[in-house]
Amino acid sequence: MKVASGVLLRAATGDDLQGVITVGQQTWPVTYGPIAGDDYVAMGLAKWWTADATVPGIRAGRVTVAEYDGEIIGMTSVGPLDGHLALWKLYVLPEFQGSGVGGMLLRAAIARAKADGYDELVLSYLDGNDGARGFYEHYGFTETGREHTGGGVPDSVWLHLKLEENHG
Ligand SMILES: CC(C)(COP(=O)(O)OP(=O)(O)OC[C@H]1O[C@@H](n2cnc3c(N)ncnc32)[C@H](O)[C@@H]1OP(=O)(O)O)[C@@H](O)C(=O)NCCC(=O)NCCS
Repeated sequence: MKVASGVLLRAATGDDLQGVITVGQQTWPVTYGPIAGDDYVAMGLAKWWTADATVPGIRAGRVTVAEYDGEIIGMTSVGPLDGHLALWKLYVLPEFQGSGVGGMLLRAAIARAKADGYDELVLSYLDGNDGARGFYEHYGFTETGREHTGGGVPDSVWLHLKLEENHG
């Protein structure tokens, strides 16, 4: 389904809280269940996709939503990390993946990082999430390191995009 032309990107407001959380609840099981297991999914949803975990980012203007036909179908959240801008979350509802929405959200995060004067956009994905890796490589991200978590959880793979060399 090609929806990009009808998609609105905007800063999330308090009214979007449930829509944002729903994006996490619908994407996490299918994305991470197969590579990290159900316990990891349950942990992540309880830690990062609650109102308490989400409201501060919305209030700080760090959450962007993609809205289509009145529904939140994707989101990003960003924040500073070691002098760079970190893309903490980028998720598109499963039925809308592959229709250009993630690219819109990523390009908006890149534009924001540039506008705010950052030299790099950084992020991590979970080893085994090959769809995410391919997506980020498509936009020129390269690997900077890996973090071993243990406990059966795949490594976190850190990527960065140097903004002065990229005009996307
Ligand atoms: C990863 C994700 C955000 C990508 O969003 P999407 O809406 O599916 O991607 P898009 O349709 O916008 O793709 C944008 C471009 O990236 C390319 N692309 C997407 N996935 C790719 C892949 N695995 N390998 C190579 N290119 C890829 C597309 O071909 C498209 O290229 P084009 O603009 O030149 O035509 C989305 O699939 C998603 O939410 N996945 C599950 C959650 C997840 O893994 N999030 C990242 C956590 S770190």
